[in-house]
Amino acid sequence: MSKKGELVCVTGGSGCIGSCLVRLLLDRGYTVHATVKYLMDDKETKHLESLEGADTRLGLYQIDLLDYDSIVAAINGCAGVFHLASPCIVDQVHDPQKNELLDPAIKGTINVLTAAKESGVRRVVITSSVAAITRVPTWPDDVINAEDCWTDVEYCKQNGFWYQLSKTLAENAAWEFSKEKGLDVVVVNPGFAIGPVIPPTLNASMLMLVRLLQGDLRCTETYPKFFMGLVHFKDVALAHIIVYENTSASGRHLCVGAICHYGDFVEKVAELYPEYNVHRLAKDSQPGFLRAKNGAKKLMDLGLQFTPLDQIIKDAVDNLKSKGFLSDNELIRI
Ligand SMILES: NC(=O)c1ccc[n+]([C@@H]2O[C@H](COP(=O)([O-])OP(=O)(O)OC[C@H]3O[C@@H](n4cnc5c(N)ncnc54)[C@H](OP(=O)(O)O)[C@@H]3O)[C@@H](O)[C@H]2O)c1
Repeated sequence: MSKKGELVCVTGGSGCIGSCLVRLLLDRGYTVHATVKYLMDDKETKHLESLEGADTRLGLYQIDLLDYDSIVAAINGCAGVFHLASPCIVDQVHDPQKNELLDPAIKGTINVLTAAKESGVRRVVITSSVAAITRVPTWPDDVINAEDCWTDVEYCKQNGFWYQLSKTLAENAAWEFSKEKGLDVVVVNPGFAIGPVIPPTLNASMLMLVRLLQGDLRCTETYPKFFMGLVHFKDVALAHIIVYENTSASGRHLCVGAICHYGDFVEKVAELYPEYNVHRLAKDSQPGFLRAKNGAKKLMDLGLQFTPLDQIIKDAVDNLKSKGFLSDNELIRI
């Protein structure tokens, strides 16, 4: 049911998925408190201020995930919270524990939930990831990875999968908080999300797509279960609203158009954009990993119609070109 007119908070509102969600919420009549890291930085604020409805129904708040008081100010008075803010560093992590990844992800989630509980928020939607689902070396080959599968924390620590660890521990902390304090929490677990970008800068997944088109992204080893498929930014944003508005929605929600292999994505990009130097895979990078058309069944049952793979890729690449991140056949260095 639409909750038109309600006040909600979007943490990480300046980001690629966050700004898409803020736009959809404004379009639906919500009033939004969006959080950014630096209010004085035009690159975090201008694209939000220019959204339709922003002049009367958008408030911007500066938060640091480790500063509880800054979060309280953004959440105070809100009926709902969408918690997206989390560091997204996939490689070159120097100090995973402190400010870089684990503390902001885990303590930040607890700070947001505590502020939500104190402010009487009705429901919190947490943006987790397939990163909290897929890294399980012992998962049987003949069973589809879905909401009942949890990333193996020790395996992540041993192999330095810090981003995956941050998302897994943060989601786990959210469920524990919900159980102990009686706060209504629901989770969305998006796959590899790309699409048209609203902010002036690219997030980690769009940068990966750029590197793929550039021929910089090589994948010759096998990564049995690290990739679950693509999803459009717009579908991730819509999934958040659907699970917020449907009181029957509960638990985790895998959010991918279809469960496919990393190689399927690479082949499709190479086929759609032969003018770029896409490094095709020499062999199947995810042997034994089950594909599925309706892996995200819970969201489909709630009415979400996922954008097909071709369209997701076209929307993302065409947007990169139109924004000047890519020329017709070569990369603009960014
Ligand atoms: N993109 C994907 O493929 C994907 C897939 C699954 C899940 N997710 C999740 O979706 C969410 C949004 O990701 P995105 O792809 O939209 O990335 P993004 O564009 O980098 O957005 C991340 C947001 O979090 C904010 N943030 C990071 N650290 C913060 C801190 N310490 N204090 C306050 N704010 C902080 C960022 O602020 P600044 O812009 O100021 O840094 C930004 O607004 C994240 O939780 C991510 O883990 C993404």
